[in-house]
Amino acid sequence: MAHLLRSSGSLLLLLLLQLSNTATTATVYNTFDGEGFPSCHNVSQIYRPKSVNEMVSIVKKTITTSSSSPAEFPRIRAAGKGHMWYDTQCSGDPGSTTVLIQTEEVDGISDFTLPKTAAEGSVVVDAGVTFFQLAEFLHERGALVGYTLTNWNISFGGSVAMGAHRSSLREHSMVAAGALALDIIDGSGALRHVERDDGNDNWLAASTSLGLLGIVARIKLRVYPDSKVYAMQDTLEESAVLNGDIYGLIAPYATANLWWWPYKKKFHHRYYDVIPAADMDKFPQEGFQNTFSVSSVEGIAARTLLDSGKYLATSNMLFEEITFGQWETPNFREKTNNTEIKTWPVYGWNYDVLIGGLYPDQKPEWEYGLHGYTLELAFPVTMANQMLKRVRALFDAELKKGIVMTSTYRSGINIKFGKPYFDFLGQVTYNTSDPGDWSKGAIMLDFPSYRPSVGDHKRFNEQFYTNLAHKLIDEFPCRPHWTKNNRDIFKRAAKNLDPDHLSRFNTVRKDFDPKGVYRSVVGEILGFY
Ligand SMILES: Cc1cc2nc3c(=O)[nH]c(=O)nc-3n(C[C@H](O)[C@H](O)[C@H](O)COP(=O)(O)OP(=O)(O)OC[C@H]3O[C@@H](n4cnc5c(N)ncnc54)[C@H](O)[C@@H]3O)c2cc1C
Ligand SMILES: *[C@@H]1O[C@H](CO)[C@@H](O)[C@H](O)[C@H]1NC(C)=O
Ligand SMILES: *[C@@H]1O[C@H](CO)[C@@H](O)[C@H](O)[C@H]1NC(C)=O
Ligand SMILES: *[C@@H]1O[C@H](CO)[C@@H](O)[C@H](O)[C@H]1NC(C)=O
Ligand SMILES: *[C@@H]1O[C@H](CO)[C@@H](O)[C@H](O)[C@H]1NC(C)=O
Repeated sequence: MAHLLRSSGSLLLLLLLQLSNTATTATVYNTFDGEGFPSCHNVSQIYRPKSVNEMVSIVKKTITTSSSSPAEFPRIRAAGKGHMWYDTQCSGDPGSTTVLIQTEEVDGISDFTLPKTAAEGSVVVDAGVTFFQLAEFLHERGALVGYTLTNWNISFGGSVAMGAHRSSLREHSMVAAGALALDIIDGSGALRHVERDDGNDNWLAASTSLGLLGIVARIKLRVYPDSKVYAMQDTLEESAVLNGDIYGLIAPYATANLWWWPYKKKFHHRYYDVIPAADMDKFPQEGFQNTFSVSSVEGIAARTLLDSGKYLATSNMLFEEITFGQWETPNFREKTNNTEIKTWPVYGWNYDVLIGGLYPDQKPEWEYGLHGYTLELAFPVTMANQMLKRVRALFDAELKKGIVMTSTYRSGINIKFGKPYFDFLGQVTYNTSDPGDWSKGAIMLDFPSYRPSVGDHKRFNEQFYTNLAHKLIDEFPCRPHWTKNNRDIFKRAAKNLDPDHLSRFNTVRKDFDPKGVYRSVVGEILGFY
């Protein structure tokens, strides 16, 4: 080989190098679910910078060394913690490759301020800081980030970019709603500072940008004095919820949601609120919630049962029976000594109770091969009863055919809520052209389901899930969550988005990223390119 190269001149050498380059660089990048769960195809390079400045240089280097041919123009996307579900991270433009900038080590926290008697302060986090990391930093300093939360191992950059949220009608719970300013690395590699300003289209686009304006590099967040909270849960009959005052179940609390058990025909109603500072000493319990971890015995048993549920409805019925029973009791332990907490309500520090994390002797469920599909759509909360009844009717239509549908997720179907928050592309925005009244807030149907680890990986009665999603999208003015839906859902739901919001967003996008360096499948489906 060496001999051949030496004797064949530099042109051949160049050609060979280019060929080997292409051959080695077309790698696939996966979601948190790992091998077999791509989020980005055809990745040419993965960088792991340690600072915002380093991210800026990578962007500048990538766009200046790139080919002048538009087809070969390199795309860039940020990568956070991979907590997304489908292959919608990068561009689907045929022939394109993507450079990923992994933000995990860009995790500085700075400029913390919360004066002693102030109701509110602020802190600046770099793109890769996770909720878990910031919660710990703030708790040590007597502060917290409020209800603008998602789960522990998710980055602030990824959450703000994709419009992630918790569940509340009373308090803001979109992560972006907690942001006061953003620094974004645009398509030329320049760092642009955007301050919260509802009268400025740059802000309204940056607030839920889908990463299409550039890399969200730094976020200035609101912080508040630390507090303890309680968590409480009731079990409700399905008919009481479907025919009841759903808004009234959620709106009184700092954060609240419903979990639906369609086979059991029941709901769990979970709600949380603050313990007044004066009473804090009366509640020494330090509850710590487990949201995703299971023991290896549980993990293996669940996987065996759910895999058989690909073929047998009775396995799924049994699974719902067991997990419903488990979910009746608190999924909390006492943090100080790791003992189980057996009775509601549970008390503890804000973040431990609202989110918590992994128990020391357990692993996240996906590490036992328990993987899921997901779907999340937001509807005006004024249509809450109508929407849930429609889903019930679709379950019943299967039953008439003799097919029993169930929840195949350990905590049922998650019904979340969102206080209205105005920006162009957020799930809970309002004043849109569709007929829905979004001014009271939104209800989200977040429907995770088990992905069988056997056969073709299709679910029991797979067609049911597609049919359900299509019916809801066509019959309601509903909007997709930006990382919990597949390409088919985005294509179908695009018609429900306000054309004026889309066009104002795209005007800002063209200014930030005229060449489409940061384009993604989602942006392509929305017609921005
Ligand atoms: C177990 C689990 C629980 C979850 N819980 C919730 C929840 O409670 N509420 C909710 O709304 N969502 C939830 N999600 C979804 C999650 O919040 C989003 O998918 C979020 O975007 C993931 O962030 P990440 O840091 O993992 O980013 P990635 O998954 O790595 O990236 C997601 C997308 O954001 C882009 N991106 C990442 N970082 C940046 C950046 N700095 N600048 C610009 N673009 C960026 C990526 O290019 C990609 O398109 C959950 C996901 C999982 C797996
Ligand atoms: C990525 O590679 C696959 C083959 O692995 C190809 O089918 C697909 O078109 C490529 N995608 C893009 C966006 O180039
Ligand atoms: C968070 O993610 C990192 C890798 O991205 C992993 O090493 C760590 O175990 C995760 N933590 C939890 C609590 O899942
Ligand atoms: C664990 O701590 C709680 C709260 O302090 C206490 O009530 C309980 O008895 C402790 N349990 C054990 C086994 O130490
Ligand atoms: C929404 O519409 C109302 C009524 O037209 C108007 O008063 C309000 O300013 C609008 N809000 C936003 C954020 O556009």
